[in-house]
Amino acid sequence: MLKIAVLVSGGGTNLQAILDAIDSGKITNAEVKIVISNNPNAYALKRAENHEIEAVCISPKQFGNREEFHKALLEKLLESKVDLVVLAGFLVAIPPAIVDAFPNKIINIHPSLIPSFCGVGYYGLHVHEAALKRGVKVTGATVHFVDKGTDTGPIILQKAVKIEPDDTPESLQRSVMEKAEWKILPKAINLIANDKITVTDGIVTVND
Ligand code: GRF
Repeated sequence: MLKIAVLVSGGGTNLQAILDAIDSGKITNAEVKIVISNNPNAYALKRAENHEIEAVCISPKQFGNREEFHKALLEKLLESKVDLVVLAGFLVAIPPAIVDAFPNKIINIHPSLIPSFCGVGYYGLHVHEAALKRGVKVTGATVHFVDKGTDTGPIILQKAVKIEPDDTPESLQRSVMEKAEWKILPKAINLIANDKITVTDGIVTVND
């Protein structure tokens, strides 16, 4: 049974997609053990509580400095004895010590087709504003392993979404979430939970 920690900062619709996929059997051999947010007001924490999952706020504001925050976050993850850490809209950079503790065991959902519109500053609506400004006709979402860079780890799954002429950043964000994020994040977790993923020289192979 793959034990999962989900890290969140906002509404938690990706977390909800994971929980619904486990409940419906689309994800097998996995359970969410803990949900951690840096934001005490994240509705994602409420979604976890509604599902009787441990919901914890670990915020930089609770600590004297960043290092103490990083230490507390790592200690909580180790204490939870999870096998996989899922970043589902987590807006805090993951420190190298946590990446080292969970090699190819941290995944992230990013709302673009990496390597487009990713890296420092590309989060939330900024991603979709950039896609519309560039005039791309297709965007989408990417699930990737987390390394010490920003959105630079091995790509696991991607799903494309057509941009409509009347799309706004808000409508495009919703479209990418509904048509891509909420599908490929649960699918990636199911593949990992059932040992269908291998990574060789930074390239992911899906053995489905
Ligand atoms: C999503 O747009 C996701 O792509 C990005 O952050 C947002 C999280 O939304 N990483 P939610 O908290 O899962 O609803």
